[in-house]
Amino acid sequence: MPRDLSPNCLTAALGRARRDGRVVTDLTQSNPTRAGIPYPRDLLSPLADARGLQYAPQALGLRDARAAVAADYERRGVSVPAERIVLTASTSEAYSLLFKVLCAPGDEVLVPRPSYPLFEHLTRLDAVVAVPYDLEYHGTWSIDLAALEQALSPRTRAVLAVSPNNPTGSYLKTEELAAIERLCAARGIALVVDEVFADYPLDDGHRAFAIGHAAACREALTFSLGGLSKTVGLPQLKLGWIALGGPPSLVADALDRLEFACDAYLSVSTPVQVALPEMLDRGAPVRGAIHQRVVTNFRRLNALAREASSCRVLDTEAGWYAVVHVPTFGSEESLVLELLTTHGILVHPGYFFDFARESYLVVSLLTPPADFETGVQTIFRHLSARP
Ligand SMILES: Cc1ncc(COP(=O)(O)O)c(C=O)c1O
Repeated sequence: MPRDLSPNCLTAALGRARRDGRVVTDLTQSNPTRAGIPYPRDLLSPLADARGLQYAPQALGLRDARAAVAADYERRGVSVPAERIVLTASTSEAYSLLFKVLCAPGDEVLVPRPSYPLFEHLTRLDAVVAVPYDLEYHGTWSIDLAALEQALSPRTRAVLAVSPNNPTGSYLKTEELAAIERLCAARGIALVVDEVFADYPLDDGHRAFAIGHAAACREALTFSLGGLSKTVGLPQLKLGWIALGGPPSLVADALDRLEFACDAYLSVSTPVQVALPEMLDRGAPVRGAIHQRVVTNFRRLNALAREASSCRVLDTEAGWYAVVHVPTFGSEESLVLELLTTHGILVHPGYFFDFARESYLVVSLLTPPADFETGVQTIFRHLSARP
């Protein structure tokens, strides 16, 4: 556990603002069910399927549900047999299971920086040590492969990557994936790739790069993570998955170990597994609405930034977030507190995501467009009014 469980100063200031009844325009909203996305009213009716009345647990998940996930990978052009799919209650749980299966207490996993802040807690809760490797920005993001290799130690058990990454929005490119896979295969360690945002490219698909797909890896033991939380915007259903790639003997051994761990918890409910094939179909319009929302907000952000000469939107390939480089007048912390207390705008500072230097702000592209427009304009106006 972390020693200090008290809320950080931004959370504390937000609590005060809400208690005082002040209106807060939230540019950190990452919960799709609270972002004004239209959900069909009967979307969850497959959960009432009578087959959900029978409890006949399968540790790795019900066969039809695993096949539905395999079909969903096929939708994105990746072939994975259903036998290589494992169901979990969430991506967070998938990480926890993988840490148990791959690591002993005190072992290390490499994590990207900047990246998803929850890694710090997820690793710690499973007694695993997170060792960072850097992503570099030169107009686009790339992995510093030399730094990644240097970060490996005899205690490293896995390399974690997020593709597209939160919050940089960068995909793992085919060559990067191949290079990391070679490093992992040579050392007999695993590669874990979180692909929860893979369905949300922010451009029109004309980029000149090929995206690497972890589940298609053949050399190293590889785990691709996904789930309903992002794929169809339903985090409350608590269903995620792991797709395994790599040499058959390593995959078979990992499946045995995962089965043992999953069998101890049996955490995925039967009704959601029964409903899964239909939920993946019925959720497609929600995915479409979320996609449209993030693309619209991202375009608007770029247009507003072009008018605000002191701020620059970093190149973002995909996902639900965008990063804005802003001038440094004081610390990021003082800026976000000032934006909250003076203008009622809630935005995340780059340091929450471990950016190497200041000043960056991270905005959620899920934000309802009217709030997004007001919030971003206010931030840009605030910064351009600085002496
Ligand atoms: C990169 C990344 N992975 C996983 C998750 C969480 O997914 P789940 O709800 O399946 O645990 C998030 C949530 O924001 C995320 O940003």
